[in-house]
Amino acid sequence: MTATKKLYIKTYGCQMNVYDSERMSEALGGAGYETTDSPDGADMILLNTCHIREKAAEKVYSELGRFKRLKAENPELKIGVAGCVAQAEGEEIMRRQPLVDLVVGPQSYHRLPEMEARTRGGERAIDTDFPEEDKFEKLRSRPKARRGPAAFLTVQEGCDKFCAFCVVPYTRGAEMSRPVDRVMSEARDLVERGVREVTLLGQNVNAYHGQGPTGEYSLARLIRTLSDIDGLERIRFTTSHPNDMTDDLIAAHGECEKLMPYLHLPVQSGSDRILKRMNRSHTAESYLRLIERIRAARPDILISGDFIVGFPEETDADFQATMDLIEAVHYGQAFSFKYSTRPGTPAAERAQVDPDVATDRLHRLQALISRQQRAVQDSMVGREVSVLFEKPGRLPGQMVGKSDHLHAVHVADSNASVGEISRVRIEDSGPNSLAGVIL
Ligand code: 5AD
Ligand code: SF4
Repeated sequence: MTATKKLYIKTYGCQMNVYDSERMSEALGGAGYETTDSPDGADMILLNTCHIREKAAEKVYSELGRFKRLKAENPELKIGVAGCVAQAEGEEIMRRQPLVDLVVGPQSYHRLPEMEARTRGGERAIDTDFPEEDKFEKLRSRPKARRGPAAFLTVQEGCDKFCAFCVVPYTRGAEMSRPVDRVMSEARDLVERGVREVTLLGQNVNAYHGQGPTGEYSLARLIRTLSDIDGLERIRFTTSHPNDMTDDLIAAHGECEKLMPYLHLPVQSGSDRILKRMNRSHTAESYLRLIERIRAARPDILISGDFIVGFPEETDADFQATMDLIEAVHYGQAFSFKYSTRPGTPAAERAQVDPDVATDRLHRLQALISRQQRAVQDSMVGREVSVLFEKPGRLPGQMVGKSDHLHAVHVADSNASVGEISRVRIEDSGPNSLAGVIL
């Protein structure tokens, strides 16, 4: 029996990376690794990287530089880079940073244990293929450890939309959906281990079309099937594209009790001219009509979005159209970014907006979004919501959880335990969370 080795994984970027990191740590568990919270004393360090915007890749290089000391102290330490930067720049990383022993792209994680063994033999290992085999199937053996009450579950990966600014179709590859039976068995396994809420993940999750026992399933049908699992109380999904928001998915929001009233539906811009240049294949108007239909099915749904400001050739009038769209939607949450040039994407070739102008637009947009976010959160005061408790708070007796609308909620002096779902009356709204009492 070999002694346990320590694995430190640092995760950047999206929720899918969080999920992938869990799966990688489980895969390496089979190779004798246990995860640790600190790079100090680790036998292997893995950076699970994000390539969506410039700064993310720069952070990876500066982080790698900091591991130099650890490698000097422990020449046996193995350093690996995973995720989308590994996929996009793997060979350059190997050239530029001799500290790195291993580079693995997002579609090759099932090969990680074998790659790790090669590094032990003194090799440097790189794998950025898009292999035919299903990595999730190969990664199947999850140890039966207890889990927190909320978990991610990847059901779809990759993207065929090719928005002009985005690297995802290149780093994560073509759209693929996991078969229904595998999603179901993973969900059942999670529930057995204490999970009560799953968030179904995909870069384009509402384009899901997995093979099921009776033909191809849409995301709506998958959600309805998952709803039959006893003990699974809440279902969410992210991220969606407006063009894949089908009638059955909209209907599910009105009919399926376990599907939470929260929808992340990025629009990116409110200007049709820019949407066209972004290759989004929807208009501001079609997005607004869609939101209307979703709200008709589920009136209290909280809408969340993503925005890019300063996309090449964006004028003041284009930006104003985005602000007008935000006013019309009234978002409960939103994520906004300054356009970041991604080499290899079509928009990288176009005339860039003055960075100061883009910064100014970002600040104005974020101020508007913050006001809306706060207004939606404040509107919860006096209402009853259900809260899934996820962890104790900082004060004795305090518990913290998430409402159905995904607001952080804390209650004082409670006997609630982690994993419990309670009805809570909201009494106060603070900068980042709500406070309430259990009914
Ligand atoms: N620059 C800025 N933001 C981007 N996003 C994707 N690519 C870029 C880019 N090149 C944003 C989009 C997307 C979110 C995940 O990241 O808003 O919805
Ligand atoms: Fe990127 Fe999303 Fe557009 Fe796909 S739909 S290219 S993941 S922004």
